[in-house]
Amino acid sequence: MEHNLHNGDTAGKDEVKSPFLIGVAGGTASGKSTVCKKIMEQLGQAEMDHTQRQVVAISQDSFYRELTAAEKLKAQKGLFNFDHPDAFNEELMFDTLQLILKGHKVKIPSYDYRTNSLDFENMLVIYPADVVLFEGILVFYFPKIRDLFHMKLFVDTDSDTRLARRVPRDINERGRDLDAVLTQYMTFVKPAFEEFCSPTKKFADVIIPRGADNTVAIDLIVHHIGEILAATNIAQHNNTVRTAASSMKR
Ligand code: ADP
Ligand code: C5P
Ligand code: MG
Repeated sequence: MEHNLHNGDTAGKDEVKSPFLIGVAGGTASGKSTVCKKIMEQLGQAEMDHTQRQVVAISQDSFYRELTAAEKLKAQKGLFNFDHPDAFNEELMFDTLQLILKGHKVKIPSYDYRTNSLDFENMLVIYPADVVLFEGILVFYFPKIRDLFHMKLFVDTDSDTRLARRVPRDINERGRDLDAVLTQYMTFVKPAFEEFCSPTKKFADVIIPRGADNTVAIDLIVHHIGEILAATNIAQHNNTVRTAASSMKR
């Protein structure tokens, strides 16, 4: 099924934003989503209306391929490999990130872990922003996508901690049962982490040991993003002053 996910809008001719794009990779349950949430909160972006945010976070989950009926049956038993690069729609991910980099507003589906499907009823509208965080297990795997990032972070939490966090999360938040979570972990998640995710750590500019517990690393990243936002605000202010001055001359 083909979906037109972008409406091609820009922020308006005078205000085309090309954001600073940050990739956030790491194994399952390493704390990627939590780290992004903390960054947003510390920058005062989380409580802001999403149309006004200067920083937005997007998850790679929105770019899972849609499953066939047979694949869905497998997925319900923990027998589908969601950790293999082929599970993702690489082209759509690349095209969407390119549109975002060109300052377009894009619409992406949310992901429903309970049904293992994209939720086109609840589309997420990503408004042009100054900084975009893109997080997921394999965001550094695809070379074309990896090359788009201005900064690459890898959340590095040990495997025992990740498994201990994944099991309750998948049962409580993702509607799974213990047997299916453990079968999926041993059959697919762990081997795929070693084969596809872990080797991408070498591409990171910054490695965050212990994930969201690492408040020093998060503070440093927040400080860096804060400086990018301040520079963008000054540039935008100067642009507004220049535009106003030239319209007064006319
Ligand atoms: P990821 O997005 O990398 O899969 P999450 O941010 O969803 O990881 O974290 C996995 C689970 O562990 C979630 O239930 C989250 O609330 C919990 N979690 C994440 N970081 C911590 C932490 N530092 N201490 C305790 N629990 C955490
Ligand atoms: O948030 P996190 O990085 O853990 O999300 C990625 C994980 O979600 C993958 O390890 C994959 O096994 C799991 N997943 C799943 N069911 C889906 C889609 C992904 O268990 N339908
Ligand atoms: Mg996550």
